[in-house]
Amino acid sequence: MKSVKTQFKRFQYFYPYTVALVGARAGKRVNFMSCAWHTALSFEPPLFGILVARKRLTHEVISEAREFTVNFLSFDRIKLSAQMGRKSGHEVDKVKEFGVKLRPARVIKSPLIEEAYVAFECRLAEVRPFGDHDLFVGEVLAVHEDAHAFNSDDILNPMKVRPLLYLGSDFYITIDPDTFKHVLPD
Ligand SMILES: Cc1cc2nc3c(=O)[nH]c(=O)nc-3n(C[C@H](O)[C@H](O)[C@H](O)COP(=O)(O)O)c2cc1C
Repeated sequence: MKSVKTQFKRFQYFYPYTVALVGARAGKRVNFMSCAWHTALSFEPPLFGILVARKRLTHEVISEAREFTVNFLSFDRIKLSAQMGRKSGHEVDKVKEFGVKLRPARVIKSPLIEEAYVAFECRLAEVRPFGDHDLFVGEVLAVHEDAHAFNSDDILNPMKVRPLLYLGSDFYITIDPDTFKHVLPD
């Protein structure tokens, strides 16, 4: 028996989603926030989208910078996700307060997060409103990855990296490498 709802307080039935820290530098301001609502949009050109609510400081900073970085966290950075996703740069300098190590970008001016196992440098291509969020579409100009995080086909190595997965509210989980399979349709 399934239950059917036509009203739902939180819309988070589709999780788990991987957690990324997204942000940018605009002038002297450097700010990042946790982001679960993100998606690849195109292979060629490589486009990546992040959804950011308009009230976030990150929204302001990325809009001004016209670029952003997307930094994927592993399960051992769970606390950092909670800190960057439950505190706002409107109140506290999160980079300073939480001792976030930054890494200079190769192509853009905004920094990346050193702890990320993979991170993208993106140039802002387009912004579109969707309800209470804006979709920031970035062209991916560079990818920074930890050695051994991916195999030669760019498949994540689950023996080396356990991505941080978000379940909604303040709950997280990760993958079980024992379930790793390579399956062909025959
Ligand atoms: C795991 C996690 C994922 C989140 N994903 C998003 C998201 O995709 N989009 C969004 O606008 N806010 C998201 N948030 C909320 C922001 O990260 C949060 O409001 C943050 O404090 C905003 O910081 P800022 O004001 O410094 O930008 C998420 C929070 C958490 C904990």
